[in-house]
Amino acid sequence: METLDLLGQWKRTHHCNELRAEHVGQEVTLMGWVLRRRDHGGVIFIDLRDREGITQVVFEPEINPETHAHAHKLRAEYCIAIKGRVRRRPEGMENPKLPTGEIEVEAKELRILNASKTPPWPLDEDVEVSEVHRLKYRYLDLRRPQMMEALRFRHQVARLARNFLDEKGFVEVETPFLTKSTPEGARDYLVPSRLYPGKFYALPQSPQLFKQILMVAGVDRYYQIVRCFRDEDLRADRQPEFTQLDLEMSFITEQDIMELLEELVRLIFRETLGIELEKPFPVLSYHEAMDKYGTDRPDLRFGLELVALTDIFRETKFKVFAQVIQKGGIIKGLCVPADFSRKELDDLTALANELGAKGLAWIKVREENELQSPIVKFFSKEEVAELLNTLKPEPGSTIFFVADQPSVVNEVLAELRVELAKRLGLIPEGVFKPCWVVDFPLVEWDEEEGRFVAMHHPFTSPKEEDLDLLEENPPAVRSRAYDLVLNGIEVGGGSIRIHRSDIQQRVFKLLKISPEEAQEKFGFLLEALEYGAPPHGGFAFGFDRLVMLMLGRKSIRDVIAFPKTQRAQCLLTGAPAPVTMTQLTELHLLPGWDLDKEKKK
Ligand code: AMO
Ligand code: AMP
Repeated sequence: METLDLLGQWKRTHHCNELRAEHVGQEVTLMGWVLRRRDHGGVIFIDLRDREGITQVVFEPEINPETHAHAHKLRAEYCIAIKGRVRRRPEGMENPKLPTGEIEVEAKELRILNASKTPPWPLDEDVEVSEVHRLKYRYLDLRRPQMMEALRFRHQVARLARNFLDEKGFVEVETPFLTKSTPEGARDYLVPSRLYPGKFYALPQSPQLFKQILMVAGVDRYYQIVRCFRDEDLRADRQPEFTQLDLEMSFITEQDIMELLEELVRLIFRETLGIELEKPFPVLSYHEAMDKYGTDRPDLRFGLELVALTDIFRETKFKVFAQVIQKGGIIKGLCVPADFSRKELDDLTALANELGAKGLAWIKVREENELQSPIVKFFSKEEVAELLNTLKPEPGSTIFFVADQPSVVNEVLAELRVELAKRLGLIPEGVFKPCWVVDFPLVEWDEEEGRFVAMHHPFTSPKEEDLDLLEENPPAVRSRAYDLVLNGIEVGGGSIRIHRSDIQQRVFKLLKISPEEAQEKFGFLLEALEYGAPPHGGFAFGFDRLVMLMLGRKSIRDVIAFPKTQRAQCLLTGAPAPVTMTQLTELHLLPGWDLDKEKKK
């Protein structure tokens, strides 16, 4: 290959989104990548790109024949430096879409700093590129403006959060990555120990235990922008390693924390997107959210609330409903202001079935409350009257029903609600509707494990007024946990913790965590709590999710520099990858394999 030019004493004077009409006549030095090259009868045009934007550079034989000849070698993504003079573009050649569109730089000198292989896809076009390519050649993908925007937006959010928390007296403290298993409920990533055969570190699922210990230590207000590791099934909003904006405070109540977090979220939206979020954020109890939206992650950008209808059908002759009620199930309805074709209704029924429903009953409401439905003939006059009185449907609406056990009804209708809102275009773009969900049950019954499990984590405090129910009626105990939900996605969660060991023991007992197990797993925290632990609580944002939502991206992979695939692979580096026998042996993962003997062979 031809020798490349050296940067030498050249100093960049401007970035590629800086020059305007007012710079006309100035001598400048620009550096960046060739986005596009066009030859126009001897004149060569380059769109020069850096992270800030694009400037048009012109090479004309008359200006400098040598430079012009050199420019013939330029190809897409070559890294170059040019010196030249800013000039106004000829009339009619301006590009109003480009901030630098009024000017161009006539190049006097060119240095080719590095050549580039032909990129696997053209970076100058808005083409659909497979995610496999994007992740393998991530450095090229990140050159695209949307990706660069995501990285810089993310940085801005982090900076705002750091400044805000700093002003509020928070101290950023780093907590270990090589640690013991944390109780967040996902599978751990393990790291074998070389010095202790058969023993493992776990990568933290969150800094939960350490941040509580920092409160015992008197740090008072802690935060950290921190990586967390969870080996769970991945989806668009989950990665095996993801980032939390994690914090913890002493001597506070949930109101204090929620107010502070609201202030932070409001500041971030104002400073980055110029959006003023409603004040205060609405607060829903867990039960309210489940009743109205069928989920503890309600999307409040649209209505379509679910309505409880069980009471109307207690005496019904309609067998499907009667049988469900008899078995302790419920009936809920969803009234949608739209008419559906037979095919659409069949599609929706198929979707409901996929989601676990045994069927999806529907009624079309015509003018004057005339009802059209295969099931309405089974309803009594009173049932019909009460139904209409409860739902007050507009003519032209469709009412959907699901009858089943509460968990199935809620899950199916929650999904159906969002799906219908999407199909009917009821979800406004660029609108952000945050809400708090509070009063979660402390525990839920785990069918598989045959015991109660913590809904948040085992250190979450029960409500003072529900303490008496801990042994009598565990499912009725409410916790002091709070989730922040934004447009139907859980962007963060936290709680006031248990800081007294007597209550902690009772909760462990309820969760069937034996004293020995508790001691082995988190004895160090329990012991710390016995040394004057202050009342404390905290919160963690899913930082990637927050940034994803704010930017309107579909996946958190789009706001993480080097994400993994849905199958937890890093396509850039090829991780996970095999390691050598030597490494495995050193880590005691190949019992019976004698390295020294092998070497002598
Ligand atoms: P939690 O487990 O709810 O709480 O996590 C906090 C937030 O982190 C985000 N999140 C994820 N984001 C991307 N990929 C994942 N795999 C993933 N898992 C969780 C979610 C979630 O709301 N220690 C507690 C917090 C506390 O009590 O202070 C905790 O980790 O947005
Ligand atoms: P069937 O009597 O099973 O033919 O059902 C009559 C109507 O009720 C059909 O439209 C079914 O889709 C609907 N249906 C059946 N089971 C349920 C259920 N569990 N919840 C709601 N609708 C149902």
